[in-house]
Amino acid sequence: LSRASFPEGFVFGTASSAYQVEGMADKGGRGPSIWDQFVKIPGLIPNNATGEVTVDEYQHYKEDVNIMKKMGFDTYRFSISWSRIFPEGAGKVNWVGVEYYDRLINYMLEQGITPYANLYHYDMPLALENEYMGWLSPRVVEAFADYADFCFKMYGDRVKNWFTFNEPRVVAALGYDNGFHAPGRCTGCPLGGDSATEPYIVAHHLLLSHAAAVKRYREKYQTCQKGKIGILLDFVWYEGLTNSTADQDAARRARDFHVGWFIHPITYGQYPESMRKIVKERLPNFTCEEVEMVKGSADYIGINQYTTYYVKNFLNTSYLSYSNDWHVEFLYQRNGVPVGQRAHSDWLYIVPWGLYKAVTYIKENYGSPIMLLSENGMDQPGNVTLPGALNDAQRINYYKSYITELKKAIDDGADVRGYFAWSLLDNFEWRLGYTSRFGIVYVDFKTLKRYPKNSAYWFKNMIQRKN
Ligand code: GCO
Repeated sequence: LSRASFPEGFVFGTASSAYQVEGMADKGGRGPSIWDQFVKIPGLIPNNATGEVTVDEYQHYKEDVNIMKKMGFDTYRFSISWSRIFPEGAGKVNWVGVEYYDRLINYMLEQGITPYANLYHYDMPLALENEYMGWLSPRVVEAFADYADFCFKMYGDRVKNWFTFNEPRVVAALGYDNGFHAPGRCTGCPLGGDSATEPYIVAHHLLLSHAAAVKRYREKYQTCQKGKIGILLDFVWYEGLTNSTADQDAARRARDFHVGWFIHPITYGQYPESMRKIVKERLPNFTCEEVEMVKGSADYIGINQYTTYYVKNFLNTSYLSYSNDWHVEFLYQRNGVPVGQRAHSDWLYIVPWGLYKAVTYIKENYGSPIMLLSENGMDQPGNVTLPGALNDAQRINYYKSYITELKKAIDDGADVRGYFAWSLLDNFEWRLGYTSRFGIVYVDFKTLKRYPKNSAYWFKNMIQRKN
């Protein structure tokens, strides 16, 4: 396995997000996002950790780009913090924030690292949440398109690879179906919510916001700036527990409710049929104009792929919710054999063949789009202290086996143009705070010193080998 195993022009990079790595959360003129508020709920996150400082990439960006360069990476996928640019979500611009991304982008380009910029990674400006409940309101569509437009105008001369959203399914499901992520809404959640309707409303507004931003890019910038724009979708592979029709249908339905929710409208202009049949009037409709806008609104699709579960048909009628609408149950073993070894995160089982199936499924069902494998990685269980944590053989095996499956999918015809490891650095892992370490570079969170793990050198070797 080496760079030479991949097509000409294939890129290797790492991925991150603003709130997870930037720090300077209440500095440099940045306005708060819903996560700045969410993390303050006492006892919610281990050690009451926040993203206020995290790995302080805001002030260490040169060091981080230097590490990327040293390890031979071609690209860096980062996200822009909406409330660092528009502290109130709209209106007044924070030029200090605008200049930060100028510095980051310019330095990357000087070092030969190609920027892949994502506009939204879970960080709704708190001002818009307070004003009209953020993603729950149709007003957000214009606001997001304006923010996107501003970023294209400011950075599009240098950024040629854009994404509107990271994991809109996670925004809708974890934010509004189970309340695990900000803004923490669900049926029965202390903050209120309705899991039967809100996830669908939010997803609808996310799709319309995506399409509105892409429309602006295409109408005002794309011809001249010559870039590409797409969306980043998380995709757990769902494998039917048995070959029974019921389980095979369940697996298909799970894929529809997970990734089809977004890629189906983007490809075909409509929600998947299984969703329309089950969710009925709780599922919003696209008007003709909206179909026109949403259909075909991606030049490429980023797939974030980490894990695989078995599923079987299962009707949960305890209460009406997005997750109960799936009519499936997840299983993590078959005939007593685990689907894969577990990482530190309880949702992450190591199943390399699932990546092959996920990528191939997108190719076969959604018109063989240009794809990027835009996130993949693991938090290794066990020793999290120096120097032992640098010896991450299990992570190296994870990367080796998953990237081998990616190569197979490409050899079998999937049009995948790049691979991004999550993540360069250990960082703020949402509800797990700093107790989960996904980096190929260790960070001592007290001194903020960076120490490449063996997996970083494994990448260096793999990327640089030309045979
Ligand atoms: C995402 C992911 C990342 C996580 C990573 C590891 O939305 O792209 O949630 O932010 O840190 O997937 O769990």
